[in-house]
Amino acid sequence: MITYRSITTTDPEYESEKALRNRVLRLPIGRTLSDADISGEDEQTHLIALDGSGTVVACVLLVIPGDGTAHIRQMAVEERFRKRGVGAGLIAYAEQTARGMGIRKINMHARVYARGFYERLGYRAAGEEFIEVTIPHIEMEKTLEGEDDEETME
Ligand SMILES: CC(C)(COP(=O)(O)OP(=O)(O)OC[C@H]1O[C@@H](n2cnc3c(N)ncnc32)[C@H](O)[C@@H]1OP(=O)(O)O)[C@@H](O)C(=O)NCCC(=O)NCCS
Repeated sequence: MITYRSITTTDPEYESEKALRNRVLRLPIGRTLSDADISGEDEQTHLIALDGSGTVVACVLLVIPGDGTAHIRQMAVEERFRKRGVGAGLIAYAEQTARGMGIRKINMHARVYARGFYERLGYRAAGEEFIEVTIPHIEMEKTLEGEDDEETME
């Protein structure tokens, strides 16, 4: 069973989160997670997925600039847990967390490889592809529907 949690950089799971990000997002492109990658992270929102034994199997970070938006970064699912809905579940949890903070719009620099994943979850490409950390990316965004957006019957 997968559970989703919010952690801070002082929680013990933060070390596992960084190790996962290094394995999934950095080593495959010939890099390691750097000081620049983790700079300012104590002010970001860290969301993780845990398997039944409490192992961190996925993570995503939210940067909240304070203008009603959130920026998604460092989305990673452990390879053997992919294509099982863990990533979609974590994004749903991130959207629920963001809504709870009054955020109405989420954006990200998505790896082009993952574009279809985000499109299935309602994100749309905004702009042209560009290179970041040596690989093609594209900006994607989604406007979150709030509960007060639902039509009411009189
Ligand atoms: C991209 C990633 C986060 C997807 O996580 P996941 O747990 O495998 O995704 P899910 O199983 O929740 O998939 C949800 C849906 O998206 C689809 N999907 C998953 N990865 C996809 C991809 N790379 N391209 C297109 N569709 C994809 C699934 O088939 C599924 O579709 P369905 O609902 O029609 O069955 C994961 O593959 C990953 O961590 N990749 C390496 C790191 C990376 O690229 N991170 C993103 C950086 S922006």
